[in-house]
Amino acid sequence: MTNSDTPAVQITDLGKTYPGATEPALSGVSLSVDPGEIVVLLGLSGSGKSTLLRHVNGLEAPTEGAVVALGESVNRLRGRDLRALRGRIGFIFQQFELVGAVTVLENVLTGGLSTLRGPRVGIISYPRSLREKALGHLDRVGLLDFAYKRADTLSGGQQQRVAIARALMQDPEILLADEPVASLDPESSGQIMSLIREIAAERSLTVICSLHQVDLALSWGDRILGLRAGEVVLDTHTDGLSREEVMEIYGRVATTTSEIAALEDELAEAREQVLSNEVRRAAARERFAEDLANEEPA
Ligand SMILES: Nc1ncnc2c1ncn2[C@@H]1O[C@H](COP(=O)(O)OP(=O)(O)OP(=O)(O)O)[C@@H](O)[C@H]1O
Ligand SMILES: [Mg+2]
Repeated sequence: MTNSDTPAVQITDLGKTYPGATEPALSGVSLSVDPGEIVVLLGLSGSGKSTLLRHVNGLEAPTEGAVVALGESVNRLRGRDLRALRGRIGFIFQQFELVGAVTVLENVLTGGLSTLRGPRVGIISYPRSLREKALGHLDRVGLLDFAYKRADTLSGGQQQRVAIARALMQDPEILLADEPVASLDPESSGQIMSLIREIAAERSLTVICSLHQVDLALSWGDRILGLRAGEVVLDTHTDGLSREEVMEIYGRVATTTSEIAALEDELAEAREQVLSNEVRRAAARERFAEDLANEEPA
């Protein structure tokens, strides 16, 4: 177990070069995440977000450096010990990764497989206690009525809720989320991101979530880690950031010309907004002064 002084995740000088690649996917990444922190990994496509997340639960092995999660040296663990650590770390994905042809409930139950011996087929093959637990999690994500529907009949937002319920079956201490809303419309995205935050607060979960949308990262995360070409270029808390700091974040994370053009448009819009607010306020002040001047003496 960890106590509150031990970081939930401690990464030291992590480097990763995939076999055959010329450029590293990650280099010199060092960071520490406290228990209960809600961290966003922000970066463009190819900046290394998925690679970094996959090192936290040992799905990738580093070329250099070390990863410690929940007090365990991830890259030194093998076999049963690695599986035990992964059991404490939930993972949700952009594409939900459900089994479409089986029921929602059975998909959620598979999240509890690590606590059982041998394969299971069909809801009834799971112990009653696990079925009750799974139904409880489905209730929490608002999908109790869908328990016996086929997973592939659900909307994207609903499928991501199922994936969250499945991750909860592990009673995770850390939740990793790799672009969990990239396949969803803005309304479902907002709902899913809020749900993740609520559940994290209820269970004191540490969350590391990759996103590529700066606005969503700013409104949702407590802390943003900006990745660019495999390096951490930004590590900041989101509390009380000024507009200039936000623009700086766009600047550091953006790399392509289209991103920079979009950024310039946004800046221009922001300036216009400020100007038009000033014009409106000046007009209002004038009207107010006129009203005062025209007021009949009492
Ligand atoms: N299995 C792999 N084998 C070889 N190269 C890989 C592999 N996975 C990722 N890469 C490369 O590593 C770099 C980082 O990729 P990664 O998938 O971590 O980025 P990302 O930030 O998650 O991107 P996206 O937003 O597109 O998901 C990229 O250059 C990518 O092509
Ligand atoms: Mg990715």
